[in-house]
Order: sequence, then structure tokens, then C-alpha cells
Amino acid sequence: MNFLRQAQGPGAIEPFDAVDVIRAKRDGEQVPHDALRWMIDAYTRGFVMDAQMSSFAMAVLLNGMSRDEIRVMTDAMIDSGERMSFDGLGKKTVDKHSTGGVGDKITLPLVPLVAAFGVAVPQLSGRGLGHTGGTLDKLESIAGWRAALSNDEMFAQLRDVGAAICAAGSGLAPADKKLYALRDVTGTVEAIPLIASSIMSKKIAEGTDALVLDVKFGSGAFMHDIDRARELARTMVELGTDSGVATTALLTDMDTPLGLAIGNANEVRESVEVLAGGGPADVVELTIALAREMLALAGQPDADVEAALVDGRAMDSWNALIRAQGGDPDAALPVPRETQTVVADRDGFVTRLEALPFGIAAWRLGAGRARAADPVIHAAGIDLHAKPGDRVVAGQPLFTLLADDPSRFDRALGALGGAWEIGDALPDGAAPGSLVRERITA
Ligand code: URA
Repeated sequence: MNFLRQAQGPGAIEPFDAVDVIRAKRDGEQVPHDALRWMIDAYTRGFVMDAQMSSFAMAVLLNGMSRDEIRVMTDAMIDSGERMSFDGLGKKTVDKHSTGGVGDKITLPLVPLVAAFGVAVPQLSGRGLGHTGGTLDKLESIAGWRAALSNDEMFAQLRDVGAAICAAGSGLAPADKKLYALRDVTGTVEAIPLIASSIMSKKIAEGTDALVLDVKFGSGAFMHDIDRARELARTMVELGTDSGVATTALLTDMDTPLGLAIGNANEVRESVEVLAGGGPADVVELTIALAREMLALAGQPDADVEAALVDGRAMDSWNALIRAQGGDPDAALPVPRETQTVVADRDGFVTRLEALPFGIAAWRLGAGRARAADPVIHAAGIDLHAKPGDRVVAGQPLFTLLADDPSRFDRALGALGGAWEIGDALPDGAAPGSLVRERITA
């Protein structure tokens, strides 16, 4: 492919031609770094058209990208906006990113827990779309809590409280915002180079010193199989490391919802239980595993994370974080107007409870949104009463649907057909194992 620069001058002021870049990727060639950088910049400026960028994204999905290409594209996406810096804080900063799952409320107990050790946690979070929930939606169940912080407010909060959970400002990686919306409607979300550059451009631009990635696989995850999750994790760890951000990843199982609460307000309630030293074993396990990773990257490999959950330090840190963002941690959480409980139809063991249908059902109950502008219903969701491995008897509650509008129950139950199973015995080796399957380092 000829990548000779186009002549500069009236009518030909752009240095490259998008069609050359698309053809190179289509034919499995490496795209020269300057052409790739230009492609991202020209798309952000509106010179490269959506049709051209979607064709390029499809070529990337089909033919992949080299490590160098992914790094150059990520850098170009970072350069499309502002870079934050926490240099003047005088503390190490460490962040966490989860690729998302059903009942994934781990950010809520994790951030204050890590901050309790004197490390700053600048957590830029998102809102839910489709069946995976969003951290900001969950926290907005708390009366008065606000997600929008200016960069100065975030800096001050990290200095004074040690943690902030807030929405990313529009200045961070605008190229990603535009490209992600395009991928969403062109069947190109699943390309690993595009997912990795999308996630890491925002995390690197955020300016954190260290980053722990929770890359999920299974029915309720973005990546259904562990091999693709591993490839995504490796790609992101390499990108972070190449950019000077100390990065590690855990591959974690998302076949079954995390914990017993799926929704918004009920997930806050469950997170507070964990911060009080209780909570479901799987939520506690993952919170502790991620906290250890984050603290190790921040230079505290021997931090006694469990102790901070039981002695109130993590809870104090949570209360300070919620208050700093206008919330009242003691206010009652919203409760649903209507509930419907589904019971076991026989004695036996719960052998399967699949994350994806439960995520979709919670979404249909109003806990999630179909379009970015939709509101969520904070009290809506599902409370589970049993998990795989539990023995149940006929008539025992399995789960309760929570909604404000009872007409939503039928559609939610429609999503749940075949989503759980009660058997006579547990399959061999079916005792709940560790959620954390692998650790990926540079
Ligand atoms: N989350 C992101 O931010 N980007 C992706 O491409 C996928 C998940």
C-alpha cells in the first residue's frame, strides 16, 4: 500500500487518505504510525466520515492489530482530549476497572477500602447500558449524592478524603466517545484492539499511577470465554505498562450474578454490608482480591485488608466519600412499590443460576436503561435468596423481583425462562470455587 503523503495545498490539506488506511487494514498490513494517528485525529475532527471509520473498525475486528498499532491508536485517542494529573497529591494513585457483569457492585466497597490505607483512588465510572449496571446509577440511589465533580473538586477530594467516584468529564478521550458510539451500531464492539484502546485511553488519560483490571468471562460478561478474556487482559496490561501505568489484571468468573443483589439501591445495601464486615462470600472474596492487587501496586503488599473491613476503617472511609459528594450515608434507600417472589418447585440443590438472563430481567424491571438518556428506577432489581450449591426445599423463596410498576413482572419473568435449575445433587466438583481464575501481569 502506498502511504505517500498527499500534497499539501488548496483542496488537499490532509496528509493522508482514509481509504489508504482502510485498505491497508483490510489487506492485513500494518498501518504506519503517522497514518493511524491521523485517522483517529481526523475522525475526531469530523474529516474522516462515520462510514469510513466503521469500515476501518470492521477491518480491525477481522484482521486484528499489532501491539505497536494498538499502542499508537490508544495514544492518539488520549491525545484527542485532556490528560489529568494527580502529581501534586503527594500520594500514590491507583484505580480499578471492571469489564462489567451482573450484580457487579465491587467498586462500592473496594474504593473506600483501598483509600483507608492512605492510597488515593480516582475512580471514573460509568452508567449502565443494557443488562450490566453502572456504578454511578447505583450510587445515585443515595439521597443527595452527585456524580459530577470538576477536576479541581476531584483533586481536592482525593487530597482530603482519599477517594472519589465520579463521571468522566467530556474532555477525556473524546475520540473514544465518538468511536464507541459508532462501534455500538456497526457490530464492531467485540474487537479486542478496539475494546482495549477504548478502556485504556480513558484510564491512562485519567493519570493514575497504577491500575487493576477485573476482566470477566462467562454468561453475564462481555467476553463469554476465558481465552478471549485472557487476550483482552494481556492486551490491556501491555498497553498500561507501555504507557508507564503499573497494570495487572484478574480474570474472574461471571457465570452467576455476583452476590445476592442485582439492581441499584439493593446493591448499595449489599455493599454497605460488606463494609460492615459481612455480606455475601463471593462479593467479599473479590473485593479483598482486588484490594490486595491495588495495594500491592501502591507499595503495600502486606496490607491487612480484611482487618479494615471488620474494624470500621473501610466504613469510615465510605461515609466520608459519600458525604464529600453531597450524599447522606444514613438516609434510607429507596424501596420498591411492588415485589413478586419466585419459589422452588421441588426439593434439591440449585445447580445453575445464569447471570445474563438475571441481568436482562433486572433491566426489564427498570434497574437499567435501554437508551443513554433513559432514567433508571433505583428501587428496581432482583434479590436472590439462593445461589448455585445451596440446598432448597419446595416452596422456599429463590428470588424476589422488585419494581415500581407490576406490569413489568411478566416481561422480567419472560427473560428468566430456563435461567436456573434445581437438581437432585450437585455435579461432581460443583462446590463454589474461587471467582479469580488467573492473574495477568506484565
Ligand atoms: N468499555 C469501554 O469503555 N469500551 C469498550 O470498548 C468496551 C467496554
